[in-house]
Amino acid sequence: MKLGIFDSGLGGLLIAKSIRDALPDLDMVYFGDTLHLPYGSRSAEAIYEYSKRAVDFLFRKHDCNLIITACNTVSASALRRLQQEYLPSSIYSNRRILGVIVPTLECATEKGYKKIGVLGTRYTLASNIYEDELKKINPEISLVQNSAPLLVPMIENNGIKWIRPVIESYLQPIKDKGVECLILGCTHYSFIRDMISEIIGSDVFLISQDDIIPAKLKDYLLRHPEISDHMSNSGEQKFIVSDMTDSYIEAAHQIYNDKISIELADPDVNK
Ligand code: DGL
Repeated sequence: MKLGIFDSGLGGLLIAKSIRDALPDLDMVYFGDTLHLPYGSRSAEAIYEYSKRAVDFLFRKHDCNLIITACNTVSASALRRLQQEYLPSSIYSNRRILGVIVPTLECATEKGYKKIGVLGTRYTLASNIYEDELKKINPEISLVQNSAPLLVPMIENNGIKWIRPVIESYLQPIKDKGVECLILGCTHYSFIRDMISEIIGSDVFLISQDDIIPAKLKDYLLRHPEISDHMSNSGEQKFIVSDMTDSYIEAAHQIYNDKISIELADPDVNK
């Protein structure tokens, strides 16, 4: 069985690549729901519906037994329902779905920072998930958040050349509060991490999820042999999107140095 990685679009590819580097033999299937992107400006019901179809597709058609929702927006809005409603009522109740927010906060808090910034999509920040989960880990730490709704559409549509002033205006309120660490609370922002780091300043520690998820996954697999013992390790990797666009193909090829082929599939087909 395989590892499934799911994101609304390009962002999760960076996480998929870093997982690949850390676990080169693990068979994995990536699904980017580019047809419904951006998730971050949609309603909770729509995000749940799209996410349910995506995980169902990865379980049913691609034999995944573990799925990482690499998308923060999905982790914030749909993950709990997927774990508590969808999984137990489906035929996949012994499979697992994991998110990225708690591991990210664990990483930030382990480093001892007292004031943490988060930049994320409108949905992720409105859900207050970073604040709620941080309170459970350490209520003494304060959080400064700002949503950055224009970044995902600009990154997905080849707009990075115009992005700097947009980032500057989103980061200013976080910078003004003097944070010690900044979480990139959306997988897409890892594409512009250097620019973000330059703007926020080198004294602020940047947490990008593609740096931390592979180690967290390795740890999870060690602690859960009931999952890892069923996973196949032939080095296979597959990339699937729900809508094929030139800018997606171009960006994916840049990340993987032209070495991947991308398939088009609708998670609803042949249900
Ligand atoms: N990459 C997703 C995240 O981590 C969001 C992108 C979108 O809005 O679709 O939140």
